[in-house]
Amino acid sequence: MKLLVVGGAGYIGSHTVRQLRAAGHEVVVLDNLSSGHAQAVPPGVPLVQADLLDVDAVKETLKAHQFDAVIHFAALIEVGESMRAPARYYRNNVVGSLNLLQAIVETRKVPLVFSSTAAVYGTTDAVPIPEDAPLRPESVYGETKLMTERMIHAFHVAHGLPYTVLRYFNVCGAAPTADIGEAHPNKTHLIELAALTALGQREKMMIFGEDYPTPDGTCIRDYVHVQDLADAHVLAVEALHAGQHVAATYNVGLGRGFSVREVLDAVDAVTGTPLTRETAPRRAGDPPRLVADASRIVAELGFAPRFTDLRDIVQTAWDWHRTHPHGFQE
Ligand code: UFG
Repeated sequence: MKLLVVGGAGYIGSHTVRQLRAAGHEVVVLDNLSSGHAQAVPPGVPLVQADLLDVDAVKETLKAHQFDAVIHFAALIEVGESMRAPARYYRNNVVGSLNLLQAIVETRKVPLVFSSTAAVYGTTDAVPIPEDAPLRPESVYGETKLMTERMIHAFHVAHGLPYTVLRYFNVCGAAPTADIGEAHPNKTHLIELAALTALGQREKMMIFGEDYPTPDGTCIRDYVHVQDLADAHVLAVEALHAGQHVAATYNVGLGRGFSVREVLDAVDAVTGTPLTRETAPRRAGDPPRLVADASRIVAELGFAPRFTDLRDIVQTAWDWHRTHPHGFQE
């Protein structure tokens, strides 16, 4: 297949580009490089620097190639920022996606795989969370992802657009080759922050709440390795190309949760240096427990994550950060 990967210079996008090529597919990346990195795009993969808000540029790219499918990662992803700057989030994530949908149906109506998030569920009592759990996003970020899911479905109904939505849980880790990894301009993710703290770039780790109704009092999340997540995209796009599982939505996680303390223990074990930890107040909007019911993607697409051990996951993140302490700057 020939694939357009929108947002392919970002963290998850770049790992997916790599897995797509390993599976024998040809890739073109479209990215505005607002948070992605040209260095994360492998040599030989064309990089079109364009913004989804420029619908003509998107159409031109689609017309210039005979793509078989599009994978769409491009979005702003910070929950806190989305609450302070909603217009930016609605414009980038919703209008940007609308432009992409419009460009696809007006040029070459190829299947679309879309990056969504567990944030569409909001706080839920469901453990684990199935795809048909109530959708009650609590942030503008989650809202923009849910709105985009719904737009995509409307394009499916109206124009026959085939699609797959993947709802990611807590994505983490890095390619075992340690040459690409997480390098966000603003760092908020637990494992990345812990690795940078272990490198001495930060003084200590704050644990946001130790009074949650969980066994050790800290929040539980489902940490899925970025390379396994990338493989989920390969499975999804190949199924769509074969005309299978069209218009499906899947959770992507391990179906198993780890607490903040368990993650920090794993980081200590991998780095060999215990981090200084401090209890901090709860962070607004953090539900106690978010664990995927991932049985649908396992049953339908044959998703088989390889990184199921927390230490192995943390090891790949640590190898990336210690060899690239300032991300792609070096
Ligand atoms: N945490 C700390 N200290 C830190 C950073 C995080 O205690 O310094 C805690 C958080 O409170 C949370 C857990 O570690 O309980 C994980 O936090 P992350 O920020 O790594 O991830 P989130 O679960 O908040 O969010 C992630 C993605 C979102 C997505 C969400 C869906 O970043 O984009 O998962 O579950 F919406």
